[in-house]
Amino acid sequence: MKKLLLVLISLHLAFASFAKEGMWIPLLLEKYNIEEMQEMGFRLTAEDIYSINQASMKDAVMIFGGGCTGELISDQGLIITNHHCGYSAIQSHSTIENDYLTNGFWAMSKEEELPNPGLSVTFLKYMEDVTDSVLVGVEESMSMKKREKVIDENISKIKERATKDNHYTATIKPFFHGNQYFLFVNEVYKDVRLVGAPPSAIGKFGGDTDNWMWPRHTGDFSVFRIYADENNEPAEYSEENKPFIPKKHFPVSLKGIEEGDFTMVFGYPGSTDQYVPSYHLKMLTEKVYPELIEIRTHKLNIMDKYMEQDPGVRIKYAAKNARVSNSWKRWRGEIRGLDILNAREKKKAYQEKLMQWVNKNSDRKAHYGQILNEYKDLYEEFGDVKLARDLLLEVIYRNGVEVAEVASMFRPLLKLYETEEDPGEEKISQAKEEVKKKINDFFKDYYQPIDKEVTADILSLYSQSVNPEFLPDVYRRINEKFNNDFQAYTEKLFRKTLFADKTSALALLEGFSERSIKKVRKDPAWKLYKTFMETYRDQLYPLYNSLRQKNDSLNRIYMKAQMEFESDKVFYPDANFTLRVGYGKVKGYEARDAIEYEHLTTIEGIMEKDNPEIYDYRVPEKLKTLYRQKDYGRYEVDGTVPVCFLATNHTTGGNSGSPVVNAEGHLIGVNFDRAWEGVMSDLMFNPEQCRNISLDIRYALFIIDKFAGAGYLLDEMTIIE
Ligand code: ARG
Ligand code: ASP
Repeated sequence: MKKLLLVLISLHLAFASFAKEGMWIPLLLEKYNIEEMQEMGFRLTAEDIYSINQASMKDAVMIFGGGCTGELISDQGLIITNHHCGYSAIQSHSTIENDYLTNGFWAMSKEEELPNPGLSVTFLKYMEDVTDSVLVGVEESMSMKKREKVIDENISKIKERATKDNHYTATIKPFFHGNQYFLFVNEVYKDVRLVGAPPSAIGKFGGDTDNWMWPRHTGDFSVFRIYADENNEPAEYSEENKPFIPKKHFPVSLKGIEEGDFTMVFGYPGSTDQYVPSYHLKMLTEKVYPELIEIRTHKLNIMDKYMEQDPGVRIKYAAKNARVSNSWKRWRGEIRGLDILNAREKKKAYQEKLMQWVNKNSDRKAHYGQILNEYKDLYEEFGDVKLARDLLLEVIYRNGVEVAEVASMFRPLLKLYETEEDPGEEKISQAKEEVKKKINDFFKDYYQPIDKEVTADILSLYSQSVNPEFLPDVYRRINEKFNNDFQAYTEKLFRKTLFADKTSALALLEGFSERSIKKVRKDPAWKLYKTFMETYRDQLYPLYNSLRQKNDSLNRIYMKAQMEFESDKVFYPDANFTLRVGYGKVKGYEARDAIEYEHLTTIEGIMEKDNPEIYDYRVPEKLKTLYRQKDYGRYEVDGTVPVCFLATNHTTGGNSGSPVVNAEGHLIGVNFDRAWEGVMSDLMFNPEQCRNISLDIRYALFIIDKFAGAGYLLDEMTIIE
């Protein structure tokens, strides 16, 4: 009997220690997840996470800016999120004299906190299943266009109703590829001030070398505060505003973590594709990703070369380099991960089983019998178009031809003259002011030799990589006048253009009049920008959009088929930048043969990586001193300080900054990344290797208190010792 019990317990443990795939809907936890969560160790209820009747965790979680998550950690509106999420706010306050990015910044009182125009945070008030109302009047026989029109009209009406007589905003998002719809009613706070950020040598320690990797030692956090009007409601920035008093904030735990502990991540995962057919994986891994990786490899090599030569250039291109490098590295990891998982074969086997089931019944056959053939046809065309579209955007945006970006800044000004008989002084000077700001911002971080080399290189690459029908007109000119010598074409462009230099761009702007329009139109950088834009607008975008719509429609049908086929399984919807719950356990992983990773890193690892020669690994002197003196205060554990930890929560881009809580719902970490071997989790989750990386909250507190001397901030937190 005892033996049997042991077997049962270990079976249970084996099962419970497993990673839990999925990004779950907060409103439906009670129905689908809470029992399992509690079995895994969670001590709270579904109502504690999401409730409209009482204060719950959801009241302390927000969309931070445009693509991250943040959470409240005091009853005075204090927020913690990632350093890389606060990056542009921190950068915007940085100057040569006050380089907060490099040196860090800490407000020593509320008066010193820095406002950030344009930065907002968004709280979810409530969500609601509105599928029936969205699909009123929709019939299966409708054309795609008609269906979309009816749905759009219904959505407008529902949103209007939800935001009538209140200051909320509303969005409706499709779930399960349009088989279900949810309404989200939100409250947006617009006065968000920077409270503090560690120096980049802590907040971005390891840089792009360590990005997407374990073992990790990045102190990826920054601290902000929400301000509200005298009624505690959202308001534009004003000196009169007061710190926001939330209904709920996360207690911060100093108790630490052990391998096997329950963890939950609560945030805004951006987008995943878990239910696509094998053709989609083939398109990404064989056609699209390799070319995107190639073009970015070229960009990065050129940037790196100049950045290594000149520290000034390094600062200018740090953010650009990070942006280009981030997805570049992830795509490579995804290809590798899918390959090792044998993902396409797995999908194919699943598709076969599903089709056998479909073909057993004439009704199902009528509905789903052709789905895979239709996918196959679609993807044959989709791949080329998606590749051309993605590459085109790589050329004129995304740190491609930067001088084309400068040219495009003049577009609003041109439009003003073109669309209005006499735009009037006021409108013109306002438009000029806006362009001027953009130009000044841009040239702060511009280095012409990089742009020139990238331009010649990627123009040539683009022409080699896409179907000739997607070549903009400029290629004809390069052929006729320059005999396809991209170098020569680029040399001439940079010699002639007014947009590659701040002085000439500003001079053009200062004296801008109707006559200047001709000058802009004749400028070679403008011409380049324009021909690419035209190819995009007239050719690629319409084509891509219609194929994507067709794809959406097939996805809806295929999703429905999958859910009927596995009618006992509880499906989770793909991420769509709505609030979700991921749960799992603190856990290391086996990365490769004989490489077994532990779940926790410590300050010892920072000192091991310390290398003044390598930019990414320069440890600040102050941190070294604290280390030498073992001056760790109450953040010390076994003679060291914990830094980052791994867990099995299913996360993706957008989850950065998400609260990571323990079984009691106390904050133990801030999510910021995933480990390299598991980044294919957007397409297929592998419980053995998919891990999210979190900053241990104790390291954040240690840095705030001991390193920055801003310990007064801890007084407003609820610390659990
Ligand atoms: N990989 C993380 C995420 O996708 C962090 C990105 C920012 N850091 C960087 N070195 N690029 O957002
Ligand atoms: N680093 C990502 C973010 O910024 C998170 C991830 O992709 O795991 O959202």
